[in-house]
Amino acid sequence: MFSRITGTGSYLPDKKLSNKELESIVDTNDEWIRSRSGIESRHIATVNETSATMGVQAATKALAAANLTAEKIDLIVVATATPDRIFPSTACMIQKELHCTNAAAFDVSAACAGFVYALSVADQYIRTEKYQHVLVIGTETLSKVTDWNDRSTCVLFGDGAGAVVLSASTDVGVIDTHLEAMGEYGDILYLANAGLEIDEPPHKIKMQGREVFKLAVNSFSDLVMTTLEKNNIAQTDIDWLVPHQANIRIIEALAKRLNLPLEQVIISLQEHGNTSAASIPLALDIAIVDGRITPGDLLLLVAFGGGITWASALIKY
Ligand code: UT7
Repeated sequence: MFSRITGTGSYLPDKKLSNKELESIVDTNDEWIRSRSGIESRHIATVNETSATMGVQAATKALAAANLTAEKIDLIVVATATPDRIFPSTACMIQKELHCTNAAAFDVSAACAGFVYALSVADQYIRTEKYQHVLVIGTETLSKVTDWNDRSTCVLFGDGAGAVVLSASTDVGVIDTHLEAMGEYGDILYLANAGLEIDEPPHKIKMQGREVFKLAVNSFSDLVMTTLEKNNIAQTDIDWLVPHQANIRIIEALAKRLNLPLEQVIISLQEHGNTSAASIPLALDIAIVDGRITPGDLLLLVAFGGGITWASALIKY
């Protein structure tokens, strides 16, 4: 038994914040943000838009695309670094709103690699024939945990949600997933809570950008090569690379290592910024809806994030 993507959906808040507008908030400029990160604009949630409400919107579209009713869902796995509450989980909040009355629900915490971690969890449940249909959601309201006085981070992040329905199938879909973690680098990218940093204002992202960048560029390609070798797949077999949308320079370095033209890379960070766990399902949905990704395509999803966590997924769409 395999799991296949049978539906995708995404949601972005209406409110946009351009680089130009950021110039009036912190000491920055459009040219610096574009050249260092590739980001031009990002979406910002209103007070009433939360990770749960945006997740509901994205999941509703994914269910419709999969032609499934809510009660068919057996499990909801939500990847988020910005849950509405520590508990109940955002997955439980979404379960309630969608009336997925037959579904178990829990959150996965792996920061920006969270969606691929969650996808891997869902894939295991389907392969072992425990569940038939699993909703996997990445949703983030990073604007609410951004330090708007810190120019080195606030220009990077945005809000949004993406969702996929994974369904049991005898045809191959998810070929393999590969998860890694390096907890020793936990302090270079974190979001404080009430436990450790009792003298710091909680709930604000802290990042040593240059360190994260170096680690990402160096280790990303190793992860990708391991994934391909393990599955006996050549770089040239990949139709689409769907990477975590953190920085265009990291994505370009990865594409170069893979000998993959940028035309075969799904890039949405210009408009969305870094939406952490939402970035891959958002990019995926956009490319499916606009017709670039078509059935039968071989996709390589790759992500890294706070933890430090790394994850990849090889998928026949
Ligand atoms: O998804 C989670 C993973 N996160 C990431 O992947 C982020 C990885 N890191 C990055 O993407 C990059 O490191 C950044 C985009 C965050 C920064 O780019 P950088 O080329 O590494 O810049 P830097 O941090 O080395 O800073 C260069 C200069 C500094 O000034 P000095 O010390 O050279 O005078 C900064 O103070 O740029 C300055 N700077 C800014 N200037 C204008 C930092 N932020 C800004 C800003 N506007 N917003």
